Amino acid sequence: MPPLRRSSAKAVAVPRSMRGPAGDRRDPLEDEARFLRSWFERPLVTGSVTPSGKMLARTMASYVDPRMSGPVIELGPGTGPVTEALVRRGIEQERLILVEFNPKFCALLQRRFPRATVLQGDAYRIRETLKGLVEMPCAATISSLPLFTKPMEQRMELLQSAHDLMQPDAPFVQFTYAVVPPIPAKCEAGSYTASRSNKVWLNLPPARVWVYRRP
Ligand SMILES: C[S@@+](CC[C@H](N)C(=O)[O-])C[C@H]1O[C@@H](n2cnc3c(N)ncnc32)[C@H](O)[C@@H]1O
Repeated sequence: MPPLRRSSAKAVAVPRSMRGPAGDRRDPLEDEARFLRSWFERPLVTGSVTPSGKMLARTMASYVDPRMSGPVIELGPGTGPVTEALVRRGIEQERLILVEFNPKFCALLQRRFPRATVLQGDAYRIRETLKGLVEMPCAATISSLPLFTKPMEQRMELLQSAHDLMQPDAPFVQFTYAVVPPIPAKCEAGSYTASRSNKVWLNLPPARVWVYRRP
């Protein structure tokens, strides 16, 4: 794994002065409250009133192969339930690049995952946000972004940009509460393939995970 450099793009790494002691523990109730506050402030950006449950987070992480080399990008990590599942799956914190819009969540993530790279910025501008930071193809992109709030063209652009940053066959993993896929399951141009998980009923609300790969 090469050293990660700070982004020179608009996204900013969280300053050390905002970081607390290592290993800040997760308190589920406090996280619920933080999330609800964030939802009241910016409902379309937060995209959910509650953080993902353990089962959903574990399902998302299960698509990442820890043996595949390269950084693992997480888009919209929020308070970090999926990040935690990735670490439990065996992804070293040093490999994680977390791109989060909400500065308060960024500060929290940096306390909880002190060896990960936390970037406060716009995940939809992933190319600029990660410019100069990723020196080898990534192993996976895990997204919890509320994609349905964006036009399809922008979702497709995000998928393509993420695939450009990754190894061939690396997964772009996305969860959704919706019945339909957030990015079409069938790609006429053949530039990606899609598969889906079973419904994760042990989540509020129940959700499904979609995985998009470039063949
Ligand atoms: C549905 S929440 C998921 C949070 C967490 N991953 C979870 O599963 O509980 C979506 C997250 O994406 C973040 N977000 C929304 N738009 C974003 C953007 N353009 N760039 C980066 N993060 C964004 C929100 O701040 C929020 O933390």
